[in-house]
Parts: sequence; structure tokens; C-alpha cells
Amino acid sequence: MNKNCDESIQAVKEDIRQKYDKFAPWYDLVEGIPDFLGIRKLRRNLLQRASGNVLEIAVGTGKNLRHYPGNCHITAIDLSPAMLEIARKRASHLGLNITFMIMDAEALDIPDQSFDTVVSSLTLCTFPDPVAALREMARVCRVDGRILLLEHGRSDREWLGRWQDRKADRHAEKLGCCWNREPLDFVHHAGLKPVSTRRCFFGIFHVLEATPS
Ligand SMILES: C[S@@+](CC[C@H](N)C(=O)[O-])C[C@H]1O[C@@H](n2cnc3c(N)ncnc32)[C@H](O)[C@@H]1O
Repeated sequence: MNKNCDESIQAVKEDIRQKYDKFAPWYDLVEGIPDFLGIRKLRRNLLQRASGNVLEIAVGTGKNLRHYPGNCHITAIDLSPAMLEIARKRASHLGLNITFMIMDAEALDIPDQSFDTVVSSLTLCTFPDPVAALREMARVCRVDGRILLLEHGRSDREWLGRWQDRKADRHAEKLGCCWNREPLDFVHHAGLKPVSTRRCFFGIFHVLEATPS
């Protein structure tokens, strides 16, 4: 990658970090609405499949933490110190012993095949290079491990997808969330092997389990 391109990607990431640092105190309040409408149930069902040493990528304020089975040993990373601070408080409130680290999902400072389960939710919309992040998830996951994803993207109902397309730039300005992406395409491009996929909420949300094949 040439130097200018690398610098501009770093600038985009810095912008995302600043946005989430500012938004952190409001995140749980705003996300409480989709959680109430059904996303919490999707989180709970997906995370029941986690086991062993778990890495959660871009953990945010730790909304998934309460849903992990008790036998999981969790490490969680995020780019935003303010989001991580809330996750830390949540973990302590829940009595969970979790290792938190500030790290870029697209360049994990973690050895290959370190985790039994890698989890990420509502993140591929935000990463500048979601395929790079998925490749990193695959790299740090054991070959017989699981990658669990809960993502949102462009609806498969054309009328809704077109509406998302029209509003996408405006929406992305707020938190860098590109809501008309195609998470399944990223999974395939990254070379992950889907084991199960489910689409819900007007085809916007994806619940996915993959292996790092
Ligand atoms: C929409 S929030 C999702 C938070 C959480 N996973 C959830 O389900 O509520 C996106 C998160 O991705 C983090 N993030 C964005 N870019 C990142 C990157 N390159 N590396 C690590 N975390 C990143 C943000 O700081 C934010 O916490």
C-alpha cells in the first residue's frame, strides 16, 4: 500500500474513533431501541454458541457480555477508549473477568489461531476495510473454531434497499456506519466458510456462523 493511501485510511480510522468516543455516553440509550425490538434476542441466541477462549472484536460498550455462557474466557478489543471504558464498567458490574485492549480490528496484534470463538456484532458497517477485518478474525481463530457474526446491511427488499441507498451518505456522516453494505459478500470475499446464515428484520440483519476455512 502506498504511503498516501495508508495515511488516509489511518485518518478515516481516527475520525471513526473520535466519533465513537463522543457517542459513547449515548450508545446504550440509542441502541436500546433496536435491542428492545429484537436485536437483544439475536445477540443472546448467537452467543449461546460461543465457547472456550473467546475474542470479541469491536466490543463497543459490551452489550454482548451478559449473553456469553459462563465457561467462556473473554478478550475484547475496540478502537475507542470511551466505548471500552463503558464495557469495562459493565463487565465489573456483571462480575466478569475480561481482558480489554485497544486495538484495530484490521490489524490485530494477536498470534494466529489463538481463540476458539471469534465474535463480532454490528461492526462490518463501520470498518473501512471489512474484508481485512474478517481475514484477521479468521487468522486468529483456531481452524476448528467458530466465527459468530451479527451484522446489518442493505435490505433484500428492493424498495427498502433503494431507500437505504438514498440515505446512506447522510447516515454514514454521523458514525461512519455504511448501512447499505452486503455483509455476506464480505464473508465470501474474505474466504470464510459460512456454516449457517439467517436474515431477518426485512432482510436487514444477518446472523452468521462461519469457520475460518
Ligand atoms: C456500532 S458499534 C458496535 C458495538 C458492539 N459490537 C455492539 O454490538 O453493540 C461499532 C464499534 O466498532 C468500533 N470500531 C470501529 N472501527 C474499529 C476498528 N478499526 N477496530 C476496532 N474497533 C472499531 C467502534 O469504536 C464501536 O465501538
